[in-house]
Amino acid sequence: MSMQSEMQSTPEIRYPEVAVNTYKPKNPVSVPVVENRLATLDVSPNIIRHITLDMSGTELEGNIRSGQSIGCVPEGFTERDGKPAKVRLYSVCSPTRGEDGDGRLVSTTVKRVIEEDPETQNLFLGLCSNYLSNLRPGDMVKVTGPSGKRFVLPENVDDFNYVFFATGTGIAPYRGMISDLLENGFSNQVALIFGCPYRTDLLYYTFFREMSVKHENFHYLTSISRESVRPDGTKPYVQYQLIDAREVLQPIVKQKNTLIYVCGLKGMELGLFRILAQEGYEDYLRIDDEIKDKSPDLWDREDLKKRIRPSERMLLEVY
Ligand code: A2P
Repeated sequence: MSMQSEMQSTPEIRYPEVAVNTYKPKNPVSVPVVENRLATLDVSPNIIRHITLDMSGTELEGNIRSGQSIGCVPEGFTERDGKPAKVRLYSVCSPTRGEDGDGRLVSTTVKRVIEEDPETQNLFLGLCSNYLSNLRPGDMVKVTGPSGKRFVLPENVDDFNYVFFATGTGIAPYRGMISDLLENGFSNQVALIFGCPYRTDLLYYTFFREMSVKHENFHYLTSISRESVRPDGTKPYVQYQLIDAREVLQPIVKQKNTLIYVCGLKGMELGLFRILAQEGYEDYLRIDDEIKDKSPDLWDREDLKKRIRPSERMLLEVY
């Protein structure tokens, strides 16, 4: 593996100026859907769709950076309390230059929320995710945004290596970022660790596989949680790749100029923080003196809330 000579300190991380809230919930803009397809290779009980909108002629054209979100207004729907449905945010999964190369076509990754109430056995269908998933090319949808300033690549992008952790649709921003990086000649290291329940839930698999074949500085690791267990009986969650794929990840993660991005389930935070600390990567964390001597195994939710924070080298978008 080619690796930069080891840096002694982390370069300053400079974030770009990005457009935000050009269209607010009070003045959304209507745009047409141009594509709505599965984001998985095959049909799966987890229905996740790749939906592309045409922003041509709006202020959103060319003004959305990978990692940002857009809002969608499910028009004509009402919330449970009878009020008009509110805007929901969805991460953009297209590169900064859009799907078309000119910033007009912008995509997002939407999982149909289909749940059974454990008590009543009633089926619950997520309002906006199903509204969007049902749209056909030519249908119009009201959007807002862009949203988010801090879950983007730095302006001085070439100063760093990147390790991206995602569960489920948390992969959306990385499809865009990885495309921004690798298709523009980025030569440092990039790793993507993606977690999903079954192989049928792998998102954008062909795209990432092809990228990893084409770019030897891109490492694509998948953590399929329900098809095997680790030798100690734990599920192979994304954070365990720091142990199980140490050969690949350690040389990258230990570099002072590596940034970690985390996107997806909130539950992944504690597990990931523990493994980072156990593996000697404390630089990605700020740990209060109060628990400096406590074993990471014993860290609890209360510690997570009050005594452990990500350092500037780790960016989190969890929900
Ligand atoms: P599992 O559900 O088997 O426990 P999706 O959003 O498509 O359901 O995928 C989320 C993925 O993240 C699943 O593989 C899920 O595993 C996994 N996951 C659930 N909880 C955690 C956690 N605390 N840390 C890391 N991964 C998790």
